Amino acid sequence: SIPLLTTVTAYRGWRQKAFDERKSVGFVATMGALHDGHLSLVQRSLAENDLTVLSIFVNPAQFAPHEDLSTYPRTLPGDLALLQAQRVSVPATDIVRTPSAVFLPSVHEMYPSGISQDTAAQKGTFVEVKGYGHQMEGASRPTFFRGVATVVTKLFNVIQPTNTYFGQKDIQQALLLRRMCKDLLLSHPDPDHVHILPTTRDLNDALALSSRNSYLTPSERAIAPTLFAALQKAESAWIRGGTTEECIKQATIFIDEVKTRPAAQGVDMRLDYIQMNDSETFDVLGASSGKNYAGENAIILSGALWLGKTRLIDNIVIGDL
Ligand code: PAJ
Repeated sequence: SIPLLTTVTAYRGWRQKAFDERKSVGFVATMGALHDGHLSLVQRSLAENDLTVLSIFVNPAQFAPHEDLSTYPRTLPGDLALLQAQRVSVPATDIVRTPSAVFLPSVHEMYPSGISQDTAAQKGTFVEVKGYGHQMEGASRPTFFRGVATVVTKLFNVIQPTNTYFGQKDIQQALLLRRMCKDLLLSHPDPDHVHILPTTRDLNDALALSSRNSYLTPSERAIAPTLFAALQKAESAWIRGGTTEECIKQATIFIDEVKTRPAAQGVDMRLDYIQMNDSETFDVLGASSGKNYAGENAIILSGALWLGKTRLIDNIVIGDL
């Protein structure tokens, strides 16, 4: 079975051996409640590294006081069973790789000075990627990216990964963390070794897999694909040459149409936002259109949708990151 390392000291011993043996270490950071999206990252790490480590840590600092920290799904036995079953065979050799270790720290291990979810009461050291954490997701969740950047800095300091894998599902997070590695001059991982992998979706209705999907009632789940479908409407409008305004309008018209369907009756569906942003600056695209777009960077077309008490996010990247 996979070794569970619950302390920084235990992990450091394990990591030193990998350094001594010149073995590459791939790393996948998670909050558990694993699904095929997480496992796609594990699979890629197994294929590209001698050793693969996954962390499971529900990070208090990235949840606002009113958010779902206490109810966030915790499914450790199931998670370990899924990891146990992961394997990748390396072509032209007899080598089969499986995950090498799981880092499973306590809150105290990760926050030696303690951690409060009330930002005004926080003491200690935090990491802020200024200028990149207030748009898109950050507009709705103002303290989220500070919490993510802080915990991932700690995780990188401990894990010392050669390569690390994040999902496009959380595109702002992945790009912000890549920038953080660059700004902090990290070498484990080097910013070029922060890999962003495609969003894994439900095979039947293309809903982006998420640990939070387990919160959805059957009727909410049935219309949850609305967000991605709305983003696709906006994308098609852009490809047809539409303006940003027209694209977003197409998306909101679609959501309003879904609300009138019988399947949506009794479901509380509210759009938080749909935006088009520059993938380098995260600025909202000014007046521009798919016909004559002059920007050099890829565009992030992203949104968040409330279904009852559950907030779902998704995105489409137009162009190359
Ligand atoms: P979590 O939501 O558990 O996600 C862990 C990683 O899995 C992230 O990189 C996320 O983008 C990726 N992921 C989630 N759903 C995915 C999907 N459907 N397809 C592909 N990848 C997917 O993101 C976090 O945890 C936390 O913020 C963390 C980075 C661990 C810091 O606490």
